[in-house]
Amino acid sequence: MKRLLIILLIFPFFLFAQNQETPHWRPTKHFSPPKNWTNDPNGLIFFQGEYHLFYQHNPYENQWGHMSWGHAVSKDLLSWENLPVAIPEDSVWIFSGTVVADVQNTSGFSTQSEGCLVAIYTADYHGKKENQHLAYSNDRGRTWTKFVGNPVLDLNKKDFRDPHIFWHKSSQHWIMSTVLPLEYKVVFFGSKNLKNWDKIGEFGQQGDMRKIWECPSLIELPVDGNYQNTKWLLMISSNGVTDGFTGMQYFVGDFDGKNFTNNNPPETKLYVDFGKDYYAGIPFNNPPENQKLMLGWLASWQYAGEIPTFPWKGTMSIPREISFKTFPEGIRLIQQPIEALKHKNENRIFEKDNFVLSEEKELTGNSLFSKNSYLIEVEFELKSAKKFGFKIGQKKDKTDKKKVLQETVIGYDTKTKELYIDRTKSGKIIKDSFGSVEKVNLALQDKKLKLQILVDKSSVEVFGNDGKVALTDLFFPEAGTNQFSIFTEKGKVNVKHLKIWDL
Ligand code: FRU
Repeated sequence: MKRLLIILLIFPFFLFAQNQETPHWRPTKHFSPPKNWTNDPNGLIFFQGEYHLFYQHNPYENQWGHMSWGHAVSKDLLSWENLPVAIPEDSVWIFSGTVVADVQNTSGFSTQSEGCLVAIYTADYHGKKENQHLAYSNDRGRTWTKFVGNPVLDLNKKDFRDPHIFWHKSSQHWIMSTVLPLEYKVVFFGSKNLKNWDKIGEFGQQGDMRKIWECPSLIELPVDGNYQNTKWLLMISSNGVTDGFTGMQYFVGDFDGKNFTNNNPPETKLYVDFGKDYYAGIPFNNPPENQKLMLGWLASWQYAGEIPTFPWKGTMSIPREISFKTFPEGIRLIQQPIEALKHKNENRIFEKDNFVLSEEKELTGNSLFSKNSYLIEVEFELKSAKKFGFKIGQKKDKTDKKKVLQETVIGYDTKTKELYIDRTKSGKIIKDSFGSVEKVNLALQDKKLKLQILVDKSSVEVFGNDGKVALTDLFFPEAGTNQFSIFTEKGKVNVKHLKIWDL
C-alpha cells in the first residue's frame, strides 16, 4: 500500500520530467521537426530551386508510430521551412522511399510542362506485409495524390522495402534498388513509366551481414574529381562498425544498367561513418549540376526511442558532399560537410595560425562559441604530444578548475593512431551503451592531421583528413554546459591553422 502511494506521488513528476522542453539540444543548422518523432530522411530531391527533405514522421507522438512522410524545404540546405505532412498514413504505414522529378512525364501523372514529382515508398501493412506504392504532386510537393493503381510492386513478402530510384540516362530507364532485409540482398528493378517494374538484378550476401539490410541507394560518383572516370556507390544501412549497433556500409563497383558488381572481395567491409549515430543516409536526386550530396539520420536504433529531446525526437545530419578518392588500399568514399556552412555568419569567425600548444587552453570567451554550435577547421602538426584535440560541452568545478564535471572529447591518440570521440562524460548518458568511445584508424600525413568538426547543440560530426573518415555522435550536455578547449596531453602539438565559424 505504502509503495503504491509512493508510485502515485512520484508518477506526475516522472511525466513532467519526460515532457520538459529541451531547447538547449535543438540544433540550429541541422533539420529537426518542430515536434514529434522522425527517423529516416526520405525523398531527398532538388526541384525548381528548392531542396526537399521528406522524413519518416509520427505526426501525433514523440515516439515511433503512425508512420507518415513529414516535409521540409530549403534553399540553402541549412535553414529549413517545415511544411504540413506530405503523405499521411491511411490503412498502411508510409515507410521510407524516394522522390523523383518526372520531367518527361513518363508516368503520365504530370499536368505541368515542367513535369511532376513522384514519390515511391514502401507501404507497410502494420508489420504483416510490405510492397511499393506511388504518390504524385503537381504543385512542387505541397499536395500529394496516392496512385489508385497501388501497389506497383508486390512480391508478397513481409519484409521488402525502402525503394531508391533514379533515372539511368544510358539505358533510359528508372532504376529501383530495394532490400530483402533478412536475406541481406538488394534487388534491382527497371521501369519505363514508374508504374510497371521488372526485376533486372540482385546483389548481396556480402560485406557486413551482422544486422538486417535497410535503405539501399545507388549513385554514380567521379573518382578523384574526374567525371570521365566514375564508379558506383552502393550504400546500405545495416550494422555499423561497432558490433550490435546500427550504421552504414558501402560497396564500390560498376553498374551496367542491370547488375552491380563489387570491385572489392566480398568479405571487404567498408563503413560510411565510424560513430554510432549515422543511419539511413541517402543521396539527393536531381541535384544542380555536378552536386553530389547525401544526408542521414543522427541516431542509432539501439537507443533512438530513449533520446531525451522534447517536444521532438530525431535530427538529420548536415548534408554531406560525397565523392570517391583513390588510396593505396583502393577507391574510398570521401565526405565533407557542405561549403555553405562557412558562408553563414561570416563576421563571427575566430582564426589563429602557427602556435605551439603545450597544455589545455579554454577557447570559450568574448561570447563567441558559447552556444555549442560551431564549425572548426584545424590542422595539427605533431611534436611530442601523446594525445591532442578539442573538448566540447565542458563544465568544470567552480572551485577546482582541474576537476572536469562534463565534456565530450574529440581527440587523436598518437600511440594507437586513432581519431576518437569520447562521450563517456558528455552529460546525459541515455543507456550504458551510449557512454562510449568511438574510434577510427587514421594515419597522420607528414605528422599532420586535418579535421573539420561540426558541433550543433547535441551532435558532433567529425571529418578527418579531408573527409577520408567521418565520425558522428550525439551528446546531451546539461543546459549551459558549453565551455570548449583545445588540448594536448603529455607533450606539444603545433596548431598550424585554426579557424572557427560560430553558427
Ligand atoms: C530504417 C527503417 C526502414 C523503414 C523505416 C520505418 O530506419 O527501419 O527500413 O522503411 O525505418 O520507419
